[in-house]
Amino acid sequence: LENGLARTPPMGFNNWNTTQCRAEFDEAMIKGIADIFVSQGLKDAGYTYVNIDDCWALPTRNARGDLQPDPKRFPGGIKALADYVHSKGLKFGIYTSAGTKTCNTAGFPGGLGHEQQDANLFASWGVDYLKYDNCNNQGVDARKRYTAMRDALAKTGRPIVYSICEWGRTDPKVWTWGEPVGNLWRTTGDISDNWTSMIGKAKANRVLARYAGPGHWNDPDMLEVGNGGMTATEYRTHFSLWAMMAAPLLIGADLRKAGAETLAILKNTDVIALDQDPLGKQATVVSSDGGLVVYNKVLANGDRAVALSNENTSTATIATTASALGIGGAPSYELKDLWSKVTRTTTGAISASVPAHGTVVYRVSKRAGGPVTRFEAEAGTMSG
Ligand code: GLA
Repeated sequence: LENGLARTPPMGFNNWNTTQCRAEFDEAMIKGIADIFVSQGLKDAGYTYVNIDDCWALPTRNARGDLQPDPKRFPGGIKALADYVHSKGLKFGIYTSAGTKTCNTAGFPGGLGHEQQDANLFASWGVDYLKYDNCNNQGVDARKRYTAMRDALAKTGRPIVYSICEWGRTDPKVWTWGEPVGNLWRTTGDISDNWTSMIGKAKANRVLARYAGPGHWNDPDMLEVGNGGMTATEYRTHFSLWAMMAAPLLIGADLRKAGAETLAILKNTDVIALDQDPLGKQATVVSSDGGLVVYNKVLANGDRAVALSNENTSTATIATTASALGIGGAPSYELKDLWSKVTRTTTGAISASVPAHGTVVYRVSKRAGGPVTRFEAEAGTMSG
């Protein structure tokens, strides 16, 4: 959607993956996340949106027909919460559904038939991001429902990132019509905090690269990094693949309880830079050989990011070449491993021994000269 927003994939937080609708999802939690974005350097790393998901509302509209926040969870109301988030230099997002009710079985009111009233209310609260789900849609055509809210948001005059939470349950698939409608659209069902779920989302999303670009992104769902169901190696794969695929990076862990390892993954600025590269190209798959997968992301400065990803349960060597990545012909290349931070040079061969469920990510740059001398390699200086 060309509304000037999401020129790179949105980065931020959403509570759903850690709390669902449990009572811990409340004002104190969301304020705490905003505080941690600032105090732990996540804001500096690019995380901007602090978003709330389903179950923030009361089950009924008020006498004016407006949605109302649940006063148990949000005693200060949503406007005050958004103001708090804004006071930290961050942005605030909310959730509802393009149906008569949201997706939770408790059934909170949805936006179908109330598009302008709800958009106006959100804008008056200072909402900067809307996740608009697809439940209880009464069989009304998805394009019609999602276009109605796009237009309602535009009429408010407030810049609001528009996230389509529909993942191809109906034809035509959302990615074939989403570009002029939303800033991002889901490409998969809900992620769970385990390897099988996460890698399944990656497989479904990685074949849709051609649909993504600045202002309109594929969304394989939010991050599970830090929620405890995967190993650190698996979480690094999750984060690497989402960045390679220019996916939104919405943290789904309760950062108030996050350890150093979780924060180190989420704050890997070299990997984030791939996600946020201004060219906005989603990685494509160069080769996929029995669970050994090579992803290639074209970057704005002519570099490539390559991910060597091992979906199998034993260590394997995964290899490709600079030519296969589309940058053959240079005398040599610099390879920077974006997790270990080790840099080396190559005349074109690119390979790594990759542990089970691991992913090695290199940034590959052409070098003007030949292979580095032993002295340069040891000094770690890659001039030229
Ligand atoms: C759907 C969405 C989830 C979450 C829930 C809330 O399942 O896909 O991301 O928003 O609804 O009920």
